[in-house]
Amino acid sequence: MPPNLETFIPGECLPDAIDVYIDDNFIHNICKLYSMHGKQFTVRQPIKLVRQYPPCPPGSERGSGDVNGSKPSVDIPDCDCPAQLDLRHAELLGVGHHSKVVLAPLTFPSAPSVRRAVAVKMSVPFSSHEMLLNEAKIYNAFPRNLQDGDAPTVPKFYGYYVHSTEAFDWDYGNNGGDNCSAEDDWKESRTDMLNSIASILLLEACGKPVQTESLALSHREDIAKLLKRLHEANFVQGSFYARNILVQPGPLILPYAERTYTESSYRIIDFGRGLSLDVNSSYRRVICDAEEERSCARERLLIP
Ligand SMILES: Nc1ncnc2c1ncn2[C@@H]1O[C@H](COP(=O)(O)OP(=O)(O)O)[C@@H](O)[C@H]1O
Ligand SMILES: [Mg+2]
Repeated sequence: MPPNLETFIPGECLPDAIDVYIDDNFIHNICKLYSMHGKQFTVRQPIKLVRQYPPCPPGSERGSGDVNGSKPSVDIPDCDCPAQLDLRHAELLGVGHHSKVVLAPLTFPSAPSVRRAVAVKMSVPFSSHEMLLNEAKIYNAFPRNLQDGDAPTVPKFYGYYVHSTEAFDWDYGNNGGDNCSAEDDWKESRTDMLNSIASILLLEACGKPVQTESLALSHREDIAKLLKRLHEANFVQGSFYARNILVQPGPLILPYAERTYTESSYRIIDFGRGLSLDVNSSYRRVICDAEEERSCARERLLIP
């Protein structure tokens, strides 16, 4: 796996489209679709997804600089070629109640091409795709200072991509499995699979969930500061449990090899139930829910 993508990339510099590569390994080992009844399916060509958030303004040119006029430090090409997301080499990062999250290489088509690992969140089961869409809108509303800097609050957002209008090109054999219910199961699995990768959220990979019982007070205080910053920016996380707080070695300003858990860096994730003033909520509700979230955090996670 290549190193993680950790650079903030302004919306206008994100790829407008990505080609997603999957194979049987991904379908069986990551998606765990076992009810295939001996059938295999292979994708003849990559699945094309287009960026929905941050939205591409109609007829807009791809920009080459960030909001402050400076270029991102990863050399992102200023071209219309799609980036490539390789789920054939995906590693499972975590499974939530509404999704699966994998680490996978994303290749930007510059010369030479830039290849970095990103977290890919998919709605599994597909019935929770509305939550993924809500999460995409919340990430899109996060100001840069919550994602970037020495002590970011949330992962960096690399876009929400959805299936374009082009048809999928599936090739699947019929190796046995000739009874009707097996055939129905197979079709259902295939549809679930297609739906799950038909909308994906790309994020910075930020470590693993915290074990709150072993956290020192100073680290609990760090997490409390993140929650305070989130609320001060008028966002509510909506399901503030330990599984939605990630930890990785820090400090993040150092090269990866020099970071340690003594200076851990924390991040709040999972905004499927998130609220924001500009997206889905009123000021009154945000204030009220933020207050409740703080008191739950104190009780549940012993956060000051
Ligand atoms: N950005 C990320 N970096 C690393 N691991 C992640 C990231 N996002 C999610 N995960 C892992 O995947 C799990 C499920 O993700 P989450 O966003 O909480 O999904 P759900 O909405 O289904 O609860 C998390 O508990 C965590 O282990
Ligand atoms: Mg979660």
